[in-house]
Amino acid sequence: MAIKKKQASRTAAAPRQASSKPAASAAPGEIAPANGKLGVMIPGMGAVATTFVAGVESVRRGLAQPIGSLTQMGTIRLGKRTDGRSPCIQEFVPLADINDLVFTGWDPFEDDMYAAARKAGVLEKDLLDNIKPFLSQIKPRPAVFDRDYVKRLDGPNVKKGKTKMDLAEQVREDIREFKKTSGASRLVMIWCGSTETFLQPAAVHESVKAFEKGLAQNDENIAPSMIYAYAALSEGVPYANGAPNLTVDLPAMHELSRRNNAPICGKDYKTGQTLLKTILAPGFKARMLGLSGWFSTNILGNRDGEVLDDPGSFKTKEESKLSVLEHILQPDLYPQLYGNICHKVRINYYPPRGDNKEGWDNIDIFGWLGYPMQIKVDFLCRDSILAAPIVLDLVLFLDLALRSSQLRGLGIQEWLSFYFKSPMTAPGLYPEHDLFIQLMKLKNTLRHLKGESLITHLGLEYYD
Ligand SMILES: NC(=O)c1ccc[n+]([C@@H]2O[C@H](COP(=O)([O-])OP(=O)(O)OC[C@H]3O[C@@H](n4cnc5c(N)ncnc54)[C@H](O)[C@@H]3O)[C@@H](O)[C@H]2O)c1
Repeated sequence: MAIKKKQASRTAAAPRQASSKPAASAAPGEIAPANGKLGVMIPGMGAVATTFVAGVESVRRGLAQPIGSLTQMGTIRLGKRTDGRSPCIQEFVPLADINDLVFTGWDPFEDDMYAAARKAGVLEKDLLDNIKPFLSQIKPRPAVFDRDYVKRLDGPNVKKGKTKMDLAEQVREDIREFKKTSGASRLVMIWCGSTETFLQPAAVHESVKAFEKGLAQNDENIAPSMIYAYAALSEGVPYANGAPNLTVDLPAMHELSRRNNAPICGKDYKTGQTLLKTILAPGFKARMLGLSGWFSTNILGNRDGEVLDDPGSFKTKEESKLSVLEHILQPDLYPQLYGNICHKVRINYYPPRGDNKEGWDNIDIFGWLGYPMQIKVDFLCRDSILAAPIVLDLVLFLDLALRSSQLRGLGIQEWLSFYFKSPMTAPGLYPEHDLFIQLMKLKNTLRHLKGESLITHLGLEYYD
C-alpha cells in the first residue's frame, strides 16, 4: 500500500511532458461499427465446433460464463500504470456482440449440432438439453470431403461435382445463401474440421491463376480445406485455420486474401500441451536454463484422436507441434543451452478417455555448471473446452479486422498468433511463439487501431 502511494506521488510530480508522451503514436484508422448480425460458417461440426456453439448459446442465456475468452473477460491497460485505465477489451474496440452471432456448418456426417455435441461427449447432457431446440436446428450442409485427405472418416453427407471448381462454386453458393437467409451483414469462416493428410506447397499453389486452373483440373495437391478457403476468400469472407492443414499457408491464398480484403489467420489452435510449452519454454529461456530434451505424449479418445491415428494426418500435426520449441529457444543464438535438444511428440488414440485428454511431459533441463534437473507435467485437460473460447475470440477478432481500414487489406493477421500452434507470418519472417510476446502484440495492435500509446514497459518516467 505504502509503495503504491509513493509511486502515485512520484508520478504526479513528474514533468508533464514525460507523463503524457506516448511510447509510439498511431493514427487511428477507421473501424466500421459492428452493426447487424455476424454469420459464423464452420466446416467441421465435431467436438470443437459444437462445444463452441453450445457454449455461446449457454452464455447468451446466462447458464454459464465464457471462461478462457479474452474478448469476453479480458481487459486492456491504456496509458500509464498510474492512470487507472483498464477497460474491457470488448468495450475498447467495437466487437460484435455474442447475441448477434448466427451459425451454420458443413460436415460429412448428418448429425445436427445437438446430436453431434452428444456424440462428442464434451458437454453434459443437462446443459445440452437446455438448448436442444437451438442446437437441433443447425444442420450440416453437405461437405466437400474426400477420403484421400482424411483416411479414417467416411460419411454420406458429401457434395458431388465433376471438378474441384464445381465444388468450390457450391460452397460459394452456400455462403451467399446463408448470408441471405440468416440476414447476417458480415460473415466469418472458421475451420473446425479434421486434420488432413500431410501436403507440401506445390506449383498449383503459387498464384490464384494456377490454383484456379488446378481446381478445374482436379489437381491432387488441392485438399478439401483449400476449397472452402478459396470459396470464402473469393466471397470476401475472412478465414481462420484451426487445424494444422496447409490450407491458407499458400501464396495463392495470400494473394486472394489481400485482393478481396478478406483477412486470414492460422494455424492449429494452441491448446493443451503446446499451450503449456509456450508458457514454460519462454520461462526457461528468460532464466538462461538449458534444455536437453522434451518428451510429450498423450492419450485421447475423441474423433480427432482417431483421425490422428493415421500416419498422414499425424505427420501434419507433428510438424505443427515440433516447430514451437526451436522458434522460442533460438538454438542459433544460444548453442550451449539449446543447440542439442531431443524433442519428441507422441499422440495415442485411446477411446476410453474421449475428449478428456491426458498429456505427460518429461522435460530435461540443466542449470548452473550444467547440473541436470527434471520437470514432469501431467495435464488432465479437456481439449475442446480449451479450444472453444479460442474459436469465439478468432471469430470476433477476424470480424474486427474485416471492419478495420488498417487491417483488412493485410492478408495474414499475425497479431492473432496468440491463438495458434504454428502462427502464420509474412513470407521470410520467423513466427513468434512466446505466449507473452504474442499477447503483447495482440494488445498493442488493438491500442494502435484506436490511436492509443503502445505499452513498452520502459517505465523510466515514474522515477524522473
Ligand atoms: N480440440 C483441440 O484442442 C484442438 C486443438 C488444436 C487443433 N484442433 C483441430 O481442430 C479440428 C477439430 O477438432 P475436433 O476435436 O472438433 O475434431 P472432431 O473429429 O470432433 O471434428 C471434426 C469434424 O470435421 C468433420 N470433417 C472432416 N473433414 C471435413 C470436411 N472436409 N468438411 C467438413 N467437415 C469435415 C468430421 O466429420 C468431424 O465431425 C481438428 O483438425 C483438430 O486437429 C483441435
